[in-house]
Amino acid sequence: MPKIILLGPPGTGKGTQAGLLCASIKVPHLCTGDMMRKAMADDTPTGRLVKPCMASGALVPDSIIIEVVKEAIRGLPGYVLDGFPRTVFQAEALSAIESIDRVVSIETPPEVIVERLSNRRICSNPACGAVYNLASNPPKIAFTCDKCSDVLKARADDNPEIALRRQQTYLKETAPLIDFYKAKGLLRPVDGTKPMEEVAISVMAAIC
Ligand code: AP5
Repeated sequence: MPKIILLGPPGTGKGTQAGLLCASIKVPHLCTGDMMRKAMADDTPTGRLVKPCMASGALVPDSIIIEVVKEAIRGLPGYVLDGFPRTVFQAEALSAIESIDRVVSIETPPEVIVERLSNRRICSNPACGAVYNLASNPPKIAFTCDKCSDVLKARADDNPEIALRRQQTYLKETAPLIDFYKAKGLLRPVDGTKPMEEVAISVMAAIC
């Protein structure tokens, strides 16, 4: 089973593509953002520690996230990592314990991302967590999840000020991973501006 990393800026479609890919190749979808949001919702010690970072659009400290990921991937023969690694330090820590098969970089320009994040709505039921987009993937009934009928809401860190901070953090901390994985011969770029189904075909081609 393959070990895949999906790389790209906030809102490029990592979560969307990870969901489609994992359903197709039957490996677990490991999203570090979801793990951190769950820790906050459960009010765990980790959740309390990371809350200010998440709220401000900064990264959670490497030491915390690396331990969480090590625990999550332990013993798994394959997976899709969505949102990890996000710093060169995290990437080096991962390289020390795992052999990654492919890194798919989903490339989308900032103006498209701003629109996607402002239109993203998520199901407020933590057990569901379905993701919609008012422009590209709207729910059948306004403000209502198609899957569980719970209320849809905007993600707290999608407000314009925090979303901009997340983009800046990506450029400074995470974009260097493109060269990091290119140098290892693992990087496969795909065009994230296409409709979701077309991006999914490109992602699948990139991992084969
Ligand atoms: P996280 O939850 O991972 O957020 P992110 O990386 O900022 O990514 P997003 O979830 O915002 O976007 P996405 O690329 O998954 O896009 P999506 O598919 O939803 O992380 C949140 C926070 O956690 C971080 O800021 C940080 O604090 C912390 N954190 C997490 N990991 C960390 C780490 N490793 N180290 C340190 N801190 C960490 O799509 C976006 C929207 O666009 C949706 O509405 C979707 O429907 C729509 N869409 C998707 N694809 C398309 C398409 N092709 N066409 C049209 N619309 C599309």
